[in-house]
Amino acid sequence: MTTILVTGGTGTLGRPVVERLAGAGHEVRVLSRSAQPYAVDLRTGGPALDRAVSGVDVIVHCASSPRGGDEQAAVHLVDAARRAGVPHLLYISIVGVDRIPLGYYRTKHAVERVIEDAGLGWTVLRATQFHDLVRTVLAGAARLPVVLLPAGVCDQPVEVTEVADRLAELALAGPAGRVPDMGGPEVRTFEDLGRAYLRAAGRRRPVLGVPLAGRTYRAFREGRHLAPDGAVGRVTFEEFLARERG
Ligand SMILES: NC(=O)c1ccc[n+]([C@@H]2O[C@H](COP(=O)([O-])OP(=O)(O)OC[C@H]3O[C@@H](n4cnc5c(N)ncnc54)[C@H](OP(=O)(O)O)[C@@H]3O)[C@@H](O)[C@H]2O)c1
Repeated sequence: MTTILVTGGTGTLGRPVVERLAGAGHEVRVLSRSAQPYAVDLRTGGPALDRAVSGVDVIVHCASSPRGGDEQAAVHLVDAARRAGVPHLLYISIVGVDRIPLGYYRTKHAVERVIEDAGLGWTVLRATQFHDLVRTVLAGAARLPVVLLPAGVCDQPVEVTEVADRLAELALAGPAGRVPDMGGPEVRTFEDLGRAYLRAAGRRRPVLGVPLAGRTYRAFREGRHLAPDGAVGRVTFEEFLARERG
C-alpha cells in the first residue's frame, strides 16, 4: 500500500484523483485549506504541512488558485517534502504554460520549475482545459442575447475523470519527468463549442466570433494551448453535456 497526499483533493480534479487512489486500496490524505485533518493553506505552510507530508510516498499536487500564491505554495510544499524525504512529486500543469503570455500560466510554469529543481523525483503532466471549465465560460457568455466568443480560437476540452485516471496511474508508476501532454478528443472553435452548449441547453441564441487584439489572443489563436498530438481523451464535449444533464 502506498501513502499518497493529494493537495487540492477537494477540487474538480482532486476529487476523482482521490476516489481512484483510495478505491485502489491506497492510503490517501486530502489536503486543502478546509479539508480536515489536513487543513493547510499552502501559501503559509507551517507545522500542519509537515504533518501532512510525513511518511508520504507520493504527493499529487492539484491545489491551485488563479487568484495568486501558487509559486509560494509550491516552495512551501517542496521544502516540506524535502524535509520529509518524499520520493515523488507529481504536478498537474496546463498545456502551453510556456507559450501563452497569461499571468496564471507564467505562475504555473514557474511552479513546474520549482518542482523540477526540488532535487526529488518528479513528474509533470500538462493537460488542456477540462470540460467543466469550458462549460462555465460558455454559460457566462450565453447570459447575453448574443453569445460573443473570441473569433478563430480553438479549444480541446478534456474529461476531468480521464485526467484523474492518468494522474492516478502516474502517481503509482514512480518519477517520470515531463510526460506527454494530454488533451481531449477534438480540437474545435469556441463558436462551435458555444453552439454545442446552446443545443444541449435547449436555448436559441446567435453566436458571434469577435476578433480581439493583443499578444495573448494571438497566442490562443495560434493554438499554443492545444495538444493535437496528445488527443488521448475519449469523452466529447457533447457527451459530457448530456451526462451532466442526465
Ligand atoms: N480547470 C482546468 O481546465 C484545468 C486544466 C488543466 C490543468 N488544470 C490544473 O489542475 C489543477 C486543479 O484544477 P481544478 O480545476 O480542480 O481546481 P479547483 O476545482 O479550483 O480546486 C482547487 C483546489 O485547491 C485547493 N486550494 C486552493 N488554494 C489552496 C491553498 N492556498 N492551500 C491549499 N489548498 C488550496 C482548493 O481547496 P480549498 O479552497 O478548500 O483550499 C481545491 O481543493 C490546477 O493546478 C489547475 O491549474 C486545470
